[in-house]
Amino acid sequence: MIQMVDLKTQYARIKDEIDREMQEVFDSCIFIGGPKVNAFRENLEQYLDVKHVIPCANGTDALQIAMMALGLKPGDEVIVPAFTYVATAEVIGLLGLTPVMTDVDPGTMNITAAHIEAAITPRTKAIVPVHLFGQSADMAPIMALAEKHNLFVIEDNAQAIGASYVVGWDTPDQPRLKKTGTIGHFGCTSFFPSKNLGCYGDGGALMTNDDALAAKARMIANHGQSKMYYHDEIGVNSRLDAMQAVILNAKLKNLPLYNAARNDAAKYYDRVFSQIPQLKIPAREPNSTHVFHQYTLQIVAPNPTAVRDELKAYLQEQGISCMIYYPVPLYKQPAYAHYWKGGELPTTEALCASVFSLPMHSEMNEEILAKITGAVKAFFEKN
Ligand SMILES: Cc1ncc(COP(=O)(O)O)c(C=O)c1O
Repeated sequence: MIQMVDLKTQYARIKDEIDREMQEVFDSCIFIGGPKVNAFRENLEQYLDVKHVIPCANGTDALQIAMMALGLKPGDEVIVPAFTYVATAEVIGLLGLTPVMTDVDPGTMNITAAHIEAAITPRTKAIVPVHLFGQSADMAPIMALAEKHNLFVIEDNAQAIGASYVVGWDTPDQPRLKKTGTIGHFGCTSFFPSKNLGCYGDGGALMTNDDALAAKARMIANHGQSKMYYHDEIGVNSRLDAMQAVILNAKLKNLPLYNAARNDAAKYYDRVFSQIPQLKIPAREPNSTHVFHQYTLQIVAPNPTAVRDELKAYLQEQGISCMIYYPVPLYKQPAYAHYWKGGELPTTEALCASVFSLPMHSEMNEEILAKITGAVKAFFEKN
């Protein structure tokens, strides 16, 4: 079976380093914090060119800690895209804040400043743009809007680590780039194993260039503790452990290569799928690079969901995995429906009905790509 990700082959390439470093952790018996976690924090700060990285236990915690550090209070509204993974809205609900769900762009599938502007009310306090599937939301107009309305911006960068966004132009042909997750007040990321930078368990981090926000987030992630056994406010217990830091350190060195391999695979997919009229290949945000956390196509047909069901079954028979990210708009999920006041969001509805994602990882090769594209082509030739 061709799986969505291939962590085994990836591990084989970095096994020596990981096994050696892991043995050092066992020998030192420093499992929480310590030199491996500090080294990873510094390496990630350098790679992202950001002042502070605050490692934590997972990407969902990172979002929650960011909202707590920004002092958001029950009743405050936080704008999120309706087409995203649930974690983005989950922490908003958990903290007693109100998620306000908006539609997204039909091409990039990301939230835009126009969607956000239409959702702003006097209670709006923050925006969570999600850099979905590996490319940045168009952040310049979002940041300008946030400044105008005095709103906090928390980037959900769980799917786009390593992507760069054009924040301005030094000369007409010299863009000024920033890594996603370092543009808003906070960036949050996940190191879930299947992510572009994934560990071998759970992990996450916050990013910020603001010293005071960094200190607050660090404190909240550690039981609201300013110094040992002195607790200034209610916090959480959210730590990255030394074993995960070993994996992340080894993989961070290779992240540009991993993301380049994903881009090569995406180019191959694009070449074949752009010739199939029933498929729409992923649109690129002009101001962002793409790190293809997912390669997500849309089916163009009168009943896309029926075609998608058949395609999925066909690929399964051929030994090829295929996933639907995401089949249900956030506001139609039972847990979130009560937050929803308006009518349906047409683009989110259309995307949930028509998207499907194919295997995408750092170990794709010609043979795998030929098999997948051949099967998809054969399916559409028959249908
Ligand atoms: C967009 C998005 N946000 C947040 C998360 C949450 O990350 P984690 O699973 O590490 O809690 C994920 C990961 O699945 C994600 O894809």
